[in-house]
Amino acid sequence: MIKISPLQKIKKEIEIPSDKSISHRALMISSLSKGKTRIRNFLQSHDTLITLNCFKKLNVGITYKKKDKEVIINSGGSYFDAPKKLNLYSGESGTTIRLISGILAGQRFISCLSAAPSLEKRPMKRITFPLRLMGADIQGREEAGNEYPPLSIKPVKGLHSIIYKTPVASAQIKSAIIFASLFSKGITKIKEPFISRDHTERMLKFFGAKLKKQSGYILVEKSKLKTPGEILIPGDFSSAAFFVTLGLILKNSELRVKNVGLNSTRTGLIPALKSMGAKIRILHKNRSYFEPYGDILIESSSLKGITIKQEDIPLMIDEIPLLMICACFARGTTKIYGLKELRVKETDRITSMVYNLKKAGQDIETKSYKSGKETNWMVKIKGGKRIRPAEFKSFSDHRTAMSLIIFALASEKGGGIDDIECINKSFPGFISIVDSL
Ligand code: S3P
Repeated sequence: MIKISPLQKIKKEIEIPSDKSISHRALMISSLSKGKTRIRNFLQSHDTLITLNCFKKLNVGITYKKKDKEVIINSGGSYFDAPKKLNLYSGESGTTIRLISGILAGQRFISCLSAAPSLEKRPMKRITFPLRLMGADIQGREEAGNEYPPLSIKPVKGLHSIIYKTPVASAQIKSAIIFASLFSKGITKIKEPFISRDHTERMLKFFGAKLKKQSGYILVEKSKLKTPGEILIPGDFSSAAFFVTLGLILKNSELRVKNVGLNSTRTGLIPALKSMGAKIRILHKNRSYFEPYGDILIESSSLKGITIKQEDIPLMIDEIPLLMICACFARGTTKIYGLKELRVKETDRITSMVYNLKKAGQDIETKSYKSGKETNWMVKIKGGKRIRPAEFKSFSDHRTAMSLIIFALASEKGGGIDDIECINKSFPGFISIVDSL
């Protein structure tokens, strides 16, 4: 058990590591582009290194300069060499397996995407189904009406375009289809029920892909990508969000988080927190080629409960555990709707958060409800309850672990957590920053 001692207050400027989603895409899109691309401020984490290894196995020229946080990619273009061993390992990275599937669907060799036990439990039919509609030969392990890793992908004569309405607002589903469309005949049209993060679209456009938005659809067609030579990845808003939360719920505190990605399809937590009464300001807003970034200034705030609707969830999908924590510190009741997707993250994050917050004496309940034909989930939290010191369980999920550490840091008596190794999945320097505070 790792002990977490409470913090009194913070007054500090911090810098957080680079964006995980954008780092994955930078490796993939640079590998698809003929020529040399220098990726600056690349995130060195378990998941992003898994993607890097996959492209090494596909014989893309990759130099990883760990000390400089740089990756240099030298690619021959969008068709790769068959891996010497059929298998490409996706570890625990959902972004790797789902996005690479779209790329491998258009290749001229057989491949297999294997996964670590936690990822083997995560659903893949959401990507295999639309990819098969495009003519791909992709198959997962079938179980209870869904498909799971490992995935096998065989070459086909050609892929073709589709018009597809994704049942779930998910950047991973959308991106898999977009990548396959780069190898397909015709114009693919994709529509999501709600907007999800658009890093793939932005970066592909920057690399010259034929991609545009029209009447609520994303239109994309076969494209030869051209490297811009260099890209710079901003800090990860999802990592910054842990400290944004801490700065708000700790008393007498002020925090500045520098150089954070501020793409509005990622930062849905900010307007949600502002409507709870959070004092958050954005300074030095800038643009790094295709993504906005800037500094976030946070002051201790007195929060009040709010209601979050399903359509807002994709814009803060990874920050919901933090929103639950803010709700515990707020006056009144917070209701968060549309949480179904949290059930299929690295762990079921509704269960992991409800279990731990209840253990700390919080008033939190979960309810299912009907939304059209499907069942969805909401949580209701009555804030202002005394926080009991507790021994938390991370469920081996990085975001559950970091959220609970923030919660314990802001409590009167602190607490403990069983496992922090999982944090390296996305945020290797998290503990050092906490220590520095
Ligand atoms: C991601 C998309 C989201 C998010 C995940 C990273 C991405 O998943 O939860 O951490 O990089 O595309 P979904 O697309 O499944 O919502």
